[in-house]
Amino acid sequence: MNKPKVLVTRQWPASVEAKLSNLYDVTLNESDRPLTAEELKIALQQYDAVCPNVCDALPAQVLNVENKRCKILGNFGVGYNHIDVAAAKQQGLIVTNTPGVLTQSTADIAMTLLLMSARRGAEGDRLVRSKKWTGWCPTQLMSSDVTGATLGLIGFGRIAQAMARKAHHGFGMKILYVKPSPAEQAIVDELQAVRCDSIAELLAQSDYVSLHCPGGAETKHLMNAQNLALMKPTAHLINTARGDVVDSLALIEALKAGTIRGAGLDVYENEPNLHPGFLELDNVSLLPHLGSATIATRTAMGEKVLANLAAFFAGEELPDRVV
Ligand code: DGY
Repeated sequence: MNKPKVLVTRQWPASVEAKLSNLYDVTLNESDRPLTAEELKIALQQYDAVCPNVCDALPAQVLNVENKRCKILGNFGVGYNHIDVAAAKQQGLIVTNTPGVLTQSTADIAMTLLLMSARRGAEGDRLVRSKKWTGWCPTQLMSSDVTGATLGLIGFGRIAQAMARKAHHGFGMKILYVKPSPAEQAIVDELQAVRCDSIAELLAQSDYVSLHCPGGAETKHLMNAQNLALMKPTAHLINTARGDVVDSLALIEALKAGTIRGAGLDVYENEPNLHPGFLELDNVSLLPHLGSATIATRTAMGEKVLANLAAFFAGEELPDRVV
């Protein structure tokens, strides 16, 4: 019997690619070049399964291509706002994702950015590298305390809770959150977490605001000029969720004007072409979408896709079905 044809749109960890190659008639992307919309359309016509990631925009006009062979999109990532899932569903395409396995690594990056922004880590690194550092000085690069400060989490799913755990147990931080429904009592008790009635209430009280809501139309520019203005002038904004949750221009203005003290970003609108205004600011720490980028996590994400494909081709229930 012919093996199912599977396309992986970018390079994956070698151990996962080896397993895929054993199981399927797989096409890997050795050059690691992102596919164009036209190439994605052709992929949908030629493969039984396509395995995209956050870089592959799959709007309705791509998914609606005629003469599709593809039946499943095994997304390499937990976020799937790059896929029009309503269009996929309408086209009879199954979509799966990789929840659970990237919780800790992404929360670690959120905490890294919080610490970098608070303690001006990137600025310090640049000072040393520029050879302009003249030695210890009582007023040099003075920064903000983390221990004992208040962390406000917008969204309180797995990654936000993992960050809250690190912040509360590791740094004695007070935890505030907003979420449509209250969190489980055991989690609230463990973290002494307080649910705010509104985002405005959370923004006004937090020393650090970390975004953990999904991307997409509902949260686009949630952090706009109006909401940024509600933050304390001493506060920092951390974004490891999706770039379009923050209005880049409004954030650049707030950072320039000093209406907030700093920001730490791992995700951007229009990645990788982030707004050039960020590059001119010292009070923003910039990482290149590293949330899940540990060897173990990226391997586990690949294993999740493998498990979803295996279940699909065996006609079994899919572990991580989105639609
Ligand atoms: C995720 O899993 O959503 C990461 O941001 C990479 O796509």
